Amino acid sequence: MRIGHITLANRLFAAPMAGVTDRPFRQLCKRLGAGYAVSEMVTSRKDLWSTLKTSRRADHAGETAPIAVQIAGTDAAMMAEAAAYNVARGAEIIDINMGCPAKKVCSQWAGSALMKDEPLALAIVEAVVAACSPHRVPVTLKMRTGWCASEKNAVRLARAAEDAGVAMIAVHGRTREQGYRGDAEYETVAAVKRAVAIPVVANGDIDSPEKARRVFAETGADAIMIGRAAQGRPWIFAEIAEHLATGRAPTPPRVADVRGWLLEHLDDHYRLYGEHAGVRSARKHIGWTLRGLPGGDDFRTAMNAIESCDAQSRAVGDWFERLADRLDVMPACGFADGAVALH
Ligand SMILES: Cc1cc2nc3c(=O)[nH]c(=O)nc-3n(C[C@H](O)[C@H](O)[C@H](O)COP(=O)(O)O)c2cc1C
Repeated sequence: MRIGHITLANRLFAAPMAGVTDRPFRQLCKRLGAGYAVSEMVTSRKDLWSTLKTSRRADHAGETAPIAVQIAGTDAAMMAEAAAYNVARGAEIIDINMGCPAKKVCSQWAGSALMKDEPLALAIVEAVVAACSPHRVPVTLKMRTGWCASEKNAVRLARAAEDAGVAMIAVHGRTREQGYRGDAEYETVAAVKRAVAIPVVANGDIDSPEKARRVFAETGADAIMIGRAAQGRPWIFAEIAEHLATGRAPTPPRVADVRGWLLEHLDDHYRLYGEHAGVRSARKHIGWTLRGLPGGDDFRTAMNAIESCDAQSRAVGDWFERLADRLDVMPACGFADGAVALH
């Protein structure tokens, strides 16, 4: 699996999620089996680049290559500048966000609103490619199936983007109008795959090894991208890899291993965010990990009242240690038989 001249470790990608896929979480996903992870989107607005939020988003210290940065905006020249700025700060791949339905993104920064204005979308793609190609930095695109059910223009836009020099396209199988409602559909993803020669990535509602295998089969996609199902369960990439390679049910991780991963993640998280923001923003990751675990709800309530990183980390360590006395492995996820080549 390649993006331009860059070869990836495998075909399992972590989806960009603002407020979630920061560098510590991306690094954890990569360690637990993701071959690729894109940063949370960085605005093309220059006046925001020096804010703490954006500079944290642009922090790639120690991250496993390739470093991929997603940019979002509505102005071609500004987007080209944002691409160049991030390339100068270590980005090896630039991803253009045409997939985010958030109101803030659609009104101020573009996201999937760009799919409605194809000439502007293409002008942005061309400007970003022109800014990146002298540096041999591939440009990728993340989009939805279209603006609404009657305006599914993903195939047309994908063809035009390929002609403009885009190296890979990820498609979330919903329209902008759907937000996150309804189910993701994969026919449009399959149609995009048939229409272009560059790699195509299928995204949307992939939440188990079995589903991953089905989406590969239904779309013919070169890779799959997982977002929400990796929240609190970043080892899903390893589980999918194992299932695709063997066709058998993956081995669930040991509770003791999950404890170790979570504590390392928290440590990395605190170092990026500091005491005040760190203890707060870590709560969501801990809460997601507790989902479905016996006694997890009660512990989440107690943990949310803790105000220091040290105490939070100790409480999490103790709780998982006690859980490991009662439960050897984490609850399993779905599977079916059949092997799929991973690389
Ligand atoms: C909390 C959250 C934040 C997101 N932020 C971004 C983003 O910054 N850029 C982007 O292209 N998509 C973003 N997305 C969309 C995801 O990348 C992905 O396309 C979507 O969640 C569908 O995949 P899933 O069903 O595996 O979660 C976000 C999704 C969530 C849930």
